This record gives sequence, structure tokens and C-alpha cells, in this order.
Amino acid sequence: MSSTLVEAATHPLRDGAFGHATSLACRECGHRVALGPHYACPECFGPLEVAYDYPAVTRAEIEAGPRNMWRYKALLPVPSDIEESPNTEPGFTRLLEARNLAAALGLSRLWVKDDSTNPTNSFKDRVVACALSAARELDAKVFACPSTGNLANAVAAAGARAGMKTVVFIPSDLEKPKQVNSAVYTDSLVAVEGNYDDVNKLASEIAGEEDGWAFVNVNVRPYYAEGSKTLGYEIAEQLGWRLPDQVVIPVASGAQLTKVDKAFQELIRLGLVEDKPYQVYGAQATGCSPVATAWKAGVDAIRPQKPDTIAKSLAIGNPADGIYVLDICRRTGGAVEDVSDDEVREGILLLARTEGIFTETAGGTTTAVLRKLVESGQLDPELETVIINTGMGLKTLDAVADRVGAAATIEPSYAAFTATGLAD
Ligand SMILES: Cc1ncc(COP(=O)(O)O)c(C=O)c1O
Ligand SMILES: [Zn+2]
Repeated sequence: MSSTLVEAATHPLRDGAFGHATSLACRECGHRVALGPHYACPECFGPLEVAYDYPAVTRAEIEAGPRNMWRYKALLPVPSDIEESPNTEPGFTRLLEARNLAAALGLSRLWVKDDSTNPTNSFKDRVVACALSAARELDAKVFACPSTGNLANAVAAAGARAGMKTVVFIPSDLEKPKQVNSAVYTDSLVAVEGNYDDVNKLASEIAGEEDGWAFVNVNVRPYYAEGSKTLGYEIAEQLGWRLPDQVVIPVASGAQLTKVDKAFQELIRLGLVEDKPYQVYGAQATGCSPVATAWKAGVDAIRPQKPDTIAKSLAIGNPADGIYVLDICRRTGGAVEDVSDDEVREGILLLARTEGIFTETAGGTTTAVLRKLVESGQLDPELETVIINTGMGLKTLDAVADRVGAAATIEPSYAAFTATGLAD
């Protein structure tokens, strides 16, 4: 399936517009189509994915690259001069060893990949950077997305920096900070009265009707999704060019989880890391857990759900990549688990108080799922584990605002302070 971006892209693609990508391949039937604004297989309607003919890439070449995701540009569908086009330069975020959280949960070695430090404070800056490149190469006139919040922030900021007309669509009940974090960059924030799945449907309709619109996660989705591979590359590089044993990843559409796995597989194939087994775990909030529900039922099909959870960034009731998440967790020996909203809040506070990292509800979900996986014996505490913190707590303050606050409110005197007992 193509969008009307095809008609808009009257100029031929320039050489190397998509780097070493050679075509788009159907994940279901393998059918190949030429690089362009296509996202569904013309034969079977399966999702299309970028296929490459990779050059030999060395660790030294990557290490000599910029301290952002473009150090991996040879493995992404972007041109070799990508750094010269204005973009938000996301990635190469810190990988922190989490000794306190490990001790609290009884794990021997734990790391937090902290993507909350990206330019708009979530991992979405990575995927948007790849989508922006595709939009440019396809000569799109409008840069757009349906979003659960973070994606809209990232698209609005990247569009502003690129000087493109940018329109972002969100569910109207989204957290206020996420709305403001988009609206500061664009005056075209559209709040839709419906849930994310309604917003997504509307975006697909607009993509089909309007000329020249690049919806990052609709008609340029194959390129967009590749951006999440950089999370996997960075984890391996920052561990000293090796794979972790276990990784816990939040799941909304499931794109991020599938791309971290793809990144690990590519690194093995390119000889950049040693081949070894690893387990991939997916994390969802119970109030929107279509993938965890299918996992627990042992079925292959995902039954869409109507989201009702404080983890709004993960509230996709009909996840596009849900079935591939199931495949990967089965293939690697991982699992998909879910936690209640109260556990999500506890997860936020646990990560904050053990590691000084203030995560949003998605990271609260991931942290709480990690704890549940350990307690239920699904995750091996002796193996090295990485969890991904995908977003920033300041965007979902309300989730914990009632749980924390001043321990005491006092007059400005030493006597008043000692009376609180906090000096003891
Ligand atoms: C903070 C955060 N974490 C995780 C996700 C899940 O991403 P995916 O849709 O790739 O599964 C999202 C998606 O919006 C998000 O905003
Ligand atoms: Zn197909």
C-alpha cells in the first residue's frame, strides 16, 4: 500500500537517499518493493521492513563517529551526509549501572539505558530522526504523526528544527505536560476526542487523502522504526561490544522491542559482537495489555483492548507489532508481563529512590515489570540485565504527585527543623 506521498515525490530519489537500504521487504511473505513511501505489502498487506546490503562496518569506524545515533548511520536508512541536515541529534544516551536497584531486587548485575536524556526526553527522538530523513528524501511537505504523547513532542521539535510544516495529532485526554511539550514547538497540535487507536485511524485516512504528508509512524513507518535499532547498538557498544543476557523493554506498538532484537541480530551477523543467547522481555500496564494477555493465553493473535491506564504513552490497544513481540519473546526465551497502575507508580518511585532517575509511567511500568519478573522467577537474577528507561518523569508528574511531597512544612528556624525529627 502506498500513500499519496508517491505522487508528491515527483523528483527521483537521489543516490544513497536511504544509505545501504536496498528495498522494502514484507515481514510476512518476503515480497520486495522499491524504496519509497510504502508501508504495506501489495501482495498480502503485511508490514514492510527496510532491507539492506550492509558494507563491512568495524567497531573503530563506529567509535570514531559522532556522540549521537549517527555513529550507526551505515546501518540505518539514511544518507551518508545525514549530519549536515538539521535534526535534533538524538542518541548515545547514558548506560548506567544500577547497583542500588539491583540490590533492592536481588539481581547480580543490572543496567539502565536512560533514554530520558534525549532532546525531547524520550526514545522517540531516535525514530523521528530517521523518519525526518525519509520525509526529506521523499520531498514531503508536511511532517506529522498520531501519538500517545512522546512521539508528538519529538515530531514537533524535529519539524521545527528542520523548518518543515508540522502537524501532530494526540488523544485529547493526554497529560497536560505532554500537550505543552508539543505545543511549544508547533501551533498545529490537534487534540482528537478519542483514544490513540482512533487518532491513528484518522491519521491513516489523512495520509491517504492529502498530498505530500509524511506521517512518521504511518506511511514512512518502515524507515521510522529503524531508528529504535540504535538503542540496541548502543547497549552493546556501551557494554564493551557484547550483548546483555536479558533486556526488559516497554511495549506500546511493539516497534521498539522488535528493533532492539533486530539490532542484536545485525551486530551478531556483522561480527561486531559475539553470538550468544539473550532473553527479551516486554512490559505493559495491565490497563492496556493486549500483548501480555496473548502471551499468557499462549495464543498468536492479539485481541485489541480499550486502554484504561495511567501509562498513557503505552496505551495502544491494537499494537501493530504485537505479534512480532510474541515471536521474539518466545524465540529468545523471554516473556511479556504486565503490572497494575499502582505498581507503575511504585516502579517510578523505586527507580527514582534507588538510582536518582525520574522516569515517566512507561519507565515505571518497565521497572515494576522487572520486579515482577524477578519475584515470579521468570527472569534469572544471576544473569546480566538491562532495562530501558524510555521517557522522563516530568512529563507525567501527576502519576506520583499525590504520593510524594514535603516531609514537613516549618517556620525558618533551627528549632522548628529539629522538631521534625529529620536531623536524627
Ligand atoms: C515513553 C515510551 N516508552 C515506550 C513506548 C513504546 O514504544 P513502541 O510503540 O515502539 O512499542 C512509547 C510509545 O509511545 C513511549 O512513549
Ligand atoms: Zn507480503
